[in-house]
Amino acid sequence: MCGIVGYIGRREATPLLMQGLKRLEYRGYDSFGIATMGSDINLFKKRGRISDSESDAVALAGYVGIGHTRWATHGEPSDINSHPHTDCSGRIALVHNGVIENYAELKKQLVGRGHRFASETDTEVIAHLIEEHYNGDLREAVEKTLPLLKGSYALLVIAADDQRIIAARDCSPLVLGIGDGELFAASDMMPLLEHTERIVFMEDGDIAEITAGEVAIYCDGARVERPVELVNWCVEDVRKGGFAHYMQKEIFEQPQAFYETIKAGLDDHVADMIKNASEITLVACGTSYHTALIFKYLAESLCNIPIRVEVGSEFKYYPPPLKGLVIAVSQSGETADTLAALKMAKVHGCSTLAITNVQGSTVTRIADRTLLMRAGPEIGVAATKSYTAQLAALMELLDARCEGAFADVLSHAHLAIGEVLLRDIQQAVALCKGAEHVFFVGRGPFYPVSMEGALKMKEISYIHAEGYAAGELKHGPFALLTEQTPVIAVCPPGSTYGVMVSNIKEMKARRAPIIALGTDGDKELEEIVDVFIPLPDTHPLVQVLTASVVLQLLSYHTACALQRDVDKPRNLAKSVTVE
Ligand code: G6P
Repeated sequence: MCGIVGYIGRREATPLLMQGLKRLEYRGYDSFGIATMGSDINLFKKRGRISDSESDAVALAGYVGIGHTRWATHGEPSDINSHPHTDCSGRIALVHNGVIENYAELKKQLVGRGHRFASETDTEVIAHLIEEHYNGDLREAVEKTLPLLKGSYALLVIAADDQRIIAARDCSPLVLGIGDGELFAASDMMPLLEHTERIVFMEDGDIAEITAGEVAIYCDGARVERPVELVNWCVEDVRKGGFAHYMQKEIFEQPQAFYETIKAGLDDHVADMIKNASEITLVACGTSYHTALIFKYLAESLCNIPIRVEVGSEFKYYPPPLKGLVIAVSQSGETADTLAALKMAKVHGCSTLAITNVQGSTVTRIADRTLLMRAGPEIGVAATKSYTAQLAALMELLDARCEGAFADVLSHAHLAIGEVLLRDIQQAVALCKGAEHVFFVGRGPFYPVSMEGALKMKEISYIHAEGYAAGELKHGPFALLTEQTPVIAVCPPGSTYGVMVSNIKEMKARRAPIIALGTDGDKELEEIVDVFIPLPDTHPLVQVLTASVVLQLLSYHTACALQRDVDKPRNLAKSVTVE
């Protein structure tokens, strides 16, 4: 969703801001803009993608600037609604990530006092309120404005002839990058990695006064110190490195993501938390919800531990009985619904654990403890290596709870993931790319694996796909089966094999083409299906991983065959920071 960047230093701000915005593109956006500070504010704002416009020719002068990628919430995507927004005089400009819930009331009051509004956004009220409080001291004006706002914000504000950026954060992420005689600000670390590894994570309620040489942070009116942390991601991680898409690169990085996460292990506190938990609830959204469901199946079937899994967006309004350990699973660590659920769990006295890929992200600030996945930065909107690293983290928890029962399996699992990366799936792609509807089916943990397969297919190919428990298809979806409706069935050996084969035969009898993922050498299955994709003969934990990777590849190649924008699918955002 919206992303913000800021720069102050000795270099021209515009190219740095534009480069920074490109690094934030992965979050999802529909328009963008920048402003630089000189004796006036210079402004460029545009609907559409950065690469679609004449953005290379943007040359606003100035060594201080702010920029924004907008994902429309209040007001359609347009040049005018794009950030930065300015006050009536055009001498104050700001970019905002978040939502101002009381903007309508504030706008009415401001219009009543003579302010002229240019846009339909909630953000513009902030610029006019700062204008009312501005007497030459921008920090003071921002400090007086913030208590009037209800909602969430990460803000960067500049004023003409004022050599500062004022940054503020409440419930939306904001990080500062400390360079050599220059400072950067951004919604996340991606735009900062090519400039510095020294990062300050702002906290809720912080206001930062940023000059070229220094940053001073205030909270509740008093100066506070926030630690400078070193990040271990590097700029190579955010380059495509010869792959056609970030998603392809990230799919191929999965053996490493899994291996690194397993190698990092658990700290003693986290291990104790999982070993001693009487009740365990996982809360997550999207792909992370699917990893949580897989964990539930594995924990219940392999270790006999009951697990509850909740969708983040439901949790806040319909909370389950809250007791024991609550685990928030979120690759970005910024998903608003997951964060809201976690806060609620804390209010009810639960112990809380965050599983995330992003050091310093908001979820790590809320939870009692964090288990950091080691996937490295993920740029493709559709989660792939973060999913696999989440599974690694969750399997580590399982292993700790079961006294190391899976340690050996987990230490070798990356090899099997590597093996399936090169599977030939062109026949399966050929069946899917012409379809309007596709079903993914499985049983046990392969049911949420199927849900994830369907989500990937929807996200990036725009083909309607549903993930179903294989036995459920006859309770309705059978009405949709035709020779044009492929069914992808995950059918590993084990207790459900026989019933899966029966289900597949039922679907075939309705003329649906079947693509089956089964164990290498399973001739019986190969003979009854249209396309057979072999998986290595491994432990069930590993089958979950290899099946998931094959389904990612199927979506990826189908989307490529349909010439979709794989890394930036329409309407989607990687980091969903609004409810
Ligand atoms: C968005 C992303 C998904 C992701 C979901 C939850 O919808 O596009 O890929 O699974 O958010 O994100 P989280 O960061 O909490 O895992």
